[in-house]
Amino acid sequence: MDFKTIDDVDLSGKRVFVRCDLNVPLEQEAANKYSVADDTRVRASVPTIKKLLAQGCTPLVASHLGRPKGERNLAFSLRPVASVLEKLLEAKVHFAEDCVGAPVGAALSEANPGEAVLLENTRFYAGETENDPAFAADLARPADAYVNDAFGTCHRKHASTYGAAELLNPAVAGYLVTEEVGYFLKLLRDPARPLIFVLGGAKLSTKLGVIKNALDNVDKFIVGGAMAYTFLKADGEPVGESMVEDDFVSEAKAILDDAGPKLFLPRDHVVAKAVDDPGSATTVDTRDISIGYMGVDIGPATACIFADEVKGAATIFWNGPMGVFEVEEFAGGTRVVGQAIADAEGETIAGGGDTVYAINKLGIAEKLDHISTGGGASLKLLEKGTLPCLEVLDRT
Ligand code: 3PG
Repeated sequence: MDFKTIDDVDLSGKRVFVRCDLNVPLEQEAANKYSVADDTRVRASVPTIKKLLAQGCTPLVASHLGRPKGERNLAFSLRPVASVLEKLLEAKVHFAEDCVGAPVGAALSEANPGEAVLLENTRFYAGETENDPAFAADLARPADAYVNDAFGTCHRKHASTYGAAELLNPAVAGYLVTEEVGYFLKLLRDPARPLIFVLGGAKLSTKLGVIKNALDNVDKFIVGGAMAYTFLKADGEPVGESMVEDDFVSEAKAILDDAGPKLFLPRDHVVAKAVDDPGSATTVDTRDISIGYMGVDIGPATACIFADEVKGAATIFWNGPMGVFEVEEFAGGTRVVGQAIADAEGETIAGGGDTVYAINKLGIAEKLDHISTGGGASLKLLEKGTLPCLEVLDRT
């Protein structure tokens, strides 16, 4: 890692634009009243903001929330996050009704030393996702320095994650970004072996780049979830009505040829007539997946094989459930493999929204070494070895 962090520069007393990823799920309590349903990402942002407060800085905390498509839509307001952040920081947080212009100035003039300002959703402006230079300049204007602690958004070249960083000096990484990037670069560059990737979820297309980049580096790939059916189709197996990404079958075939025996596919399957028809579920071997049935989970024999493989790993990266985990009847494979990952002695790193949901439902979060706050960002980092928003930070 050759970018500077907040420990490499003196930010004392500065107004610091801190890009966090406070893209949290909200719950509607009443008309126009929302609350934070899961504060994981807010908690993850606290160490950096606390460090800045301790240095006498005024942090201007910025984030997106959801995808409001460039319009001010209060269903995506960051206001409910302000009180959660305030509690976690044990410091006053002034909420600015906008992320640029007069409301920012007003919040700043109210903020005493040791207090923070939280800006309204940057994606209320189209200029955010377009990385519009004028909008980036508006964001950067009130600040003297830039800190990126939004690991989950580092793959997005947006005005608050990229453009504003180009304009401010110093521009450095916060603790969350540093920690997350450290875990993933170690996976790529210096993993304890054997290194196993456990991949699942619906779409192979989102993980193709990761698999290709890791083909020589990873010792074993364990593949479950619906993405396995694109591989099985490529391998000439019957897949019934299982979800297949037909556009990626030829790429899947090329990966199978390159990976050879180090890529493990399910040998038996829980199949059903539909995801919402658990009563029709039955377990079959790969050869016996018939028309009218779709794969909804890895079968019990496969779950045992995968769990055994995981036990022998020194490093495990897990992204994606093994089946339709939300439906209890189809959660067995994810439960067995997830538990094996939790019990493994090797270093365990997981990421991705559905994976984190499964981890929490299984109650195994404490047993994993690192749970990433960025699903898309961690996959991009594993695919490319870097992320656009890291490239714009000051070099060491
Ligand atoms: C995420 O939730 O993965 C990040 O906050 C990025 O959000 P986005 O996919 O809407 O850019």
